[in-house]
Amino acid sequence: MVLAAGATSLPPIVWLLGALVVAAMVLGVLSPWLRRRSPNLWWLLWGFPVTVVRFRWTWRRLADVQGLSVPGRPPAVLLGAVVVQGRALKPVKPRAGVPRWRRGGLSVKVRLHSGQTPEEYAAACGAMAHAWRVFAVRAVSDTRGTVWLVANAWDPLSRPAEPFRGSVGLLSAVVGVWEDGGRWLVNLRRVPHWLVVGATQSGKSTLLASLVAQWSRQPVALVGIDLKGGMELGLFAPRLTALATSRRDAVDLLDVLVEVTMGRMALCRATGVRSVWELPDKQQPVPIVVLVDEVAELYLTATSADKAEVSQVSTALLRLGQLGAALGVHLIVAGQRFGSDLGPGATSLRAQLAGRACFRVADKGTAEMTLGDLDAGAVDAVQSIPVSMPGVAVALGAPDGGWMRARSFLVTPEEAEEVAVRFAHLRPSVGQLYAGSAGAGGLS
Ligand SMILES: Nc1ncnc2c1ncn2[C@@H]1O[C@H](COP(=O)(O)OP(=O)(O)OP(=O)(O)O)[C@@H](O)[C@H]1O
Ligand SMILES: [Mg+2]
Repeated sequence: MVLAAGATSLPPIVWLLGALVVAAMVLGVLSPWLRRRSPNLWWLLWGFPVTVVRFRWTWRRLADVQGLSVPGRPPAVLLGAVVVQGRALKPVKPRAGVPRWRRGGLSVKVRLHSGQTPEEYAAACGAMAHAWRVFAVRAVSDTRGTVWLVANAWDPLSRPAEPFRGSVGLLSAVVGVWEDGGRWLVNLRRVPHWLVVGATQSGKSTLLASLVAQWSRQPVALVGIDLKGGMELGLFAPRLTALATSRRDAVDLLDVLVEVTMGRMALCRATGVRSVWELPDKQQPVPIVVLVDEVAELYLTATSADKAEVSQVSTALLRLGQLGAALGVHLIVAGQRFGSDLGPGATSLRAQLAGRACFRVADKGTAEMTLGDLDAGAVDAVQSIPVSMPGVAVALGAPDGGWMRARSFLVTPEEAEEVAVRFAHLRPSVGQLYAGSAGAGGLS
């Protein structure tokens, strides 16, 4: 009786706190199970609050150890007529805002001390990920003087996302998801030619299948060159305007495409415009996308006859690369390597292919060759793609304009084949590719 009277006399705040402590303990015990069952719910209820506490707890120490804090007092003071040098007693940590919740992560805005650059924060991201026990932290800067630290609780690319079923503009395709959850969009009107590199079984052909699956629905001519005997691109044959499976065929096909391109150039000149997109609707020719799988096969030489063919292929591809962007002719070139060892033609063509996607590669040199003079972080990111995650790539064209990790959709050959058959009626003939041909305007 006495006990009951004592219990009921406890103030409500104590009850509330007690209930919160019990709820936190239950959540803490169930946390590993909840994380496996429903990672997003786990992050909302447990992961995010705990990470915010870790962030607050470690921020000062991290900033000090990583050299992001600055001395609180000038290291030298004037004492009478003497300058006394000394170590600042208390470094000032950078000012961090309130961490914001994101699906599967958090972001926090940090104000840079004067003289600091975002790169200094990028260099400390590994230590931050370690201290906050998250998968990765990225430093992103969109305004001067501030940097956003974006943390991902787990690798968002660990599972392939559901293929995109909607529609985007002409010559655009959503081929996967970026690491930050955004759509990985390939837009040929913005970046006209692409180089896709990766070791065997890394996901190159699947990316091509994803592109074909979307462009098959659009009024676009798809042309394939697949020197693996047509094993990969042959699946989409019903929707392809032409498919070359040997180098001899490729030479003939590329000659036609160069002729088509020159015709378009003449039309633009005669009309006084600088690109086919400026032509009147009726005159606009069908955009052409040339897909090349296993590009190295086109450049390999054994005999002198091979040499002549390689030189023809190389010249034709280079012309398409140089002239095509304004004339609605686009190249998507995929291969395991595409470097100077294949000859000067390969290097010159590579320079024309501004869009880059680099899947897992066998060596650092290939990643550097593919991603060019991007920062070392991009090359490191490629090298850390595990064999167990095909379809993960480092690509250019992220929402902030730079590079980011992304994962392509898993479009199976059967799915792409089915789409190719379904939209076979949209396939333009070779004749319709020529400027001024009947039907070209109607298709675009
Ligand atoms: N985005 C993805 N998600 C999950 N699995 C994928 C993804 N992309 C590819 N894969 C798997 O990886 C395997 C190899 O993919 P793909 O054939 O595209 O590789 P590749 O680079 O073209 O290889 P190769 O050089 O041998 O032709 C496929 O069987 C597929 O199951
Ligand atoms: Mg392949």
